[in-house]
Amino acid sequence: MKIVAIVGSIRKDSYNLKFAQYVQERYQDRFDLEILNIREIPFFNQDIEKKPSVVVTDFKNKVKNADAVLWVTPEYNGTVPGILVNVIDWLSRVDKVMIGKPSWIMGASMGNLGTVKAQMHLRDILFSPGINSPLLPSNEVYVGAVHTKMDEDGDITHQPTIEFLDSVVNNFIDWFNQQSQNVSV
Ligand SMILES: Cc1cc2nc3c(=O)[nH]c(=O)nc-3n(C[C@H](O)[C@H](O)[C@H](O)COP(=O)(O)O)c2cc1C
Repeated sequence: MKIVAIVGSIRKDSYNLKFAQYVQERYQDRFDLEILNIREIPFFNQDIEKKPSVVVTDFKNKVKNADAVLWVTPEYNGTVPGILVNVIDWLSRVDKVMIGKPSWIMGASMGNLGTVKAQMHLRDILFSPGINSPLLPSNEVYVGAVHTKMDEDGDITHQPTIEFLDSVVNNFIDWFNQQSQNVSV
C-alpha cells in the first residue's frame, strides 16, 4: 500500500514531521509511506487553479497516485495550521484528487490536549464536497506533551504511545482493506 503523509508544519525540528518519520520507519514492512514536501507550494489562487505551477501539479499527482493520505498536524491557535488549509484548497479544486481517497489523522503538540481541536476541524474539512475523503473512524491519535515522549532522534520513548500507534496502524489497514472490498463489490 502506498500512503502519502502531509505534515502541517514546515519547521525543520517539527515534532509532527519527526512523528511522521517515526511512523514511516516503524511500519515500513506494512506500507510505503512518502512524506510530501509542501514547503514550496504557493498560496492557492483561483485565477491559476487550472494552470498551477509544476510544484502544485507534482504534489497533486503524488496525492492522486497514493492509496491513502496520512495527515499529521500541529494545532495553531486552536485550529488547523494555514499551510495545511492551503494545500487542502489546492486538492479540493479542478481534478479533486482527494474524492473517495481514504484518510487518517494524527497530531502532536507540547500541550496536554495533543491537537484535539485542530483534528476536530480537520475532520470537518475533509468531509467537504471538494475533498470528500472517507476517514478512519474511532482511532484518534492525539499525542500531547510530545517533547516528553520523543528523544532527540525522533524515536518515541513512551511505550503506551507506541502500543497505541501499533493498534491504530492495524485498525487502519483492516479498515482500508474493508474500504477496498466495498469499492470492488
Ligand atoms: C502560531 C502558533 C500557534 C499555536 N497554537 C497552539 C494551540 O492552539 N494549541 C497547542 O496545543 N499548541 C499550539 N502551539 C504550539 C505548538 O503545539 C508547538 O509549537 C508545536 O511544536 C508545533 O508543531 P511542530 O513541532 O510540528 O512544528 C502553537 C504554536 C504556534 C507557532
